[in-house]
Amino acid sequence: MKQTFFLTTPIYYVNGAPHIGHAYTSVCADVLARFKRLDGYDVFYLSGTDEHGQKVEKAARDAGVDPQTFTDRVSADFRGMSDAMGVSYDDWIRTTEERHKVSTCELWRRIAASGNIYLGHYEGWYAVRDEAFYDDGEVTLQPDGSRIGPSGAPVEWVREPSYFFKLSAFQDKLLELYETQPDFVAPTSRRNEVISFVKSGLRDLSISRTTFNWGIPVPDAPGHVMYVWLDALNNYVTACGFPDPDAPRWKYWPADVHVVGKDIIRFHAVYWPAFLMAAGLPLPRRVSSHGWWIVDGEKMSKSLGNVVEPRKLVETYGLDQIRYFLMREKPFGADGSMSHAAIVSRINVELANDLGNLAQRTLSLIARNCGGQLPAHGEPTEDDLVLLAAADALLPIVRDHMDRQTFNEALEEIWKVVRAANAYIDHQAPWALNKTDKARMGSVLRVLTDTIRTIATLLQPFMPASTGRMLDQLGVPADARDFAGLATRLPAGEALPPPQGVFPRYVEPTA
Ligand code: ME8
Ligand code: MG
Repeated sequence: MKQTFFLTTPIYYVNGAPHIGHAYTSVCADVLARFKRLDGYDVFYLSGTDEHGQKVEKAARDAGVDPQTFTDRVSADFRGMSDAMGVSYDDWIRTTEERHKVSTCELWRRIAASGNIYLGHYEGWYAVRDEAFYDDGEVTLQPDGSRIGPSGAPVEWVREPSYFFKLSAFQDKLLELYETQPDFVAPTSRRNEVISFVKSGLRDLSISRTTFNWGIPVPDAPGHVMYVWLDALNNYVTACGFPDPDAPRWKYWPADVHVVGKDIIRFHAVYWPAFLMAAGLPLPRRVSSHGWWIVDGEKMSKSLGNVVEPRKLVETYGLDQIRYFLMREKPFGADGSMSHAAIVSRINVELANDLGNLAQRTLSLIARNCGGQLPAHGEPTEDDLVLLAAADALLPIVRDHMDRQTFNEALEEIWKVVRAANAYIDHQAPWALNKTDKARMGSVLRVLTDTIRTIATLLQPFMPASTGRMLDQLGVPADARDFAGLATRLPAGEALPPPQGVFPRYVEPTA
């Protein structure tokens, strides 16, 4: 039986059109999902949309449509964006689905049965943009007399009857969780922030609202709808079939990784495990948070309206090119900005020159000088052995980076071998060997095809279509493209299809 691997994206608010920040999270998780599938895991990759709450209700009102019609439309838009980015989600969950209402009411009942919910009165700051409550100390007065929360979102004073979750009772248990499961929050900088937030003291959390009704009704409490974050976080267990213990997907819970942006780490690393502890459910293994894509010095955001549209980028540069850029350009945990020049440079230098030319040079020499057949290995030289050893060593190195979500470092390790292969081909000059030593030429080209095969195989999660074409040209059968397949070299003499460039250069359109 395969080992399971469950990973999630945040479910996106349907308050506006998707942008490249959402695409980024989904592509990060997609690269990891594809990697784990190729590495032999039974993967469940979940994504979807967060459709309740004041923020979405307001967006629907502004659009002049009822909330359900509005969320149907925007959820489909997010799903379309995910498809356009090649995101291989296994389920697309929507919080307005019946299965989610059933699951979330049961979660509420279990938390209530544990004695951790009480009725009270909330009075304090609320930011609709973040759907978050803030303390006095987190709120700043602006010159115009308005107030903003720590994220810059406007806050308003809210007073209403509310159910509370006894978050304060979970302080020690949470600190113990971070202590005993040091990988629970990643990267370390975020873990430290979470620990100091929890150490500073937790207040009970308001978990129902009474001033609007676009939400899941609280069981047996007319007038109360659930706080949208309780509702939203619970999507992760809903999708596993909760509360049915015999659901086929229950085997996937707890999640192996929740991939999130750093804006929502508090919800995932503090509130979510506390809810689960109260309900007596197993805790996720890891919450891994990435930095932001910045535009003109500000976080790109639907609410701010400064967004880059994913489908436009794909049209302009190509899907695999954009996936590669997103994963390569900035470290996962850090902020970064994108520009036309940076994208073009990654495409032309790394994809077209380094990798594309390497494959094209090798394969066209085989087509021209080896009758288009995969050459046989000769007696290996020291140089051959060094290059093959570097390629064969990649899988465990890359796997380790994937497990830590250090995607750009995984790519850097692969690129070390790409560069070594380029140095090798220049140094061995197989084109010159055609006249002097045909056997050695074949042997050099064979070392190169073995190396390129490993590179292309490991790059499949990042650039599925292009690497698929590269593996076609190398004659790698479909059932030998997983990582286990790398253990067996291809038989010599195989007829290869005519080579075709896989990574074109980006050329500026002429006006
Ligand atoms: O927070 N750079 O939804 P959301 C990188 N519904 N990533 C970005 C980004 C940027 N500029 N902007 C957004 C919510 N993201 C809740 C989640 S989960 C139970 C509920 C990504 O639509 C990033 O992953 O505001 C961030 O965490 C997510 O979009 C927030 O999406
Ligand atoms: Mg947001």
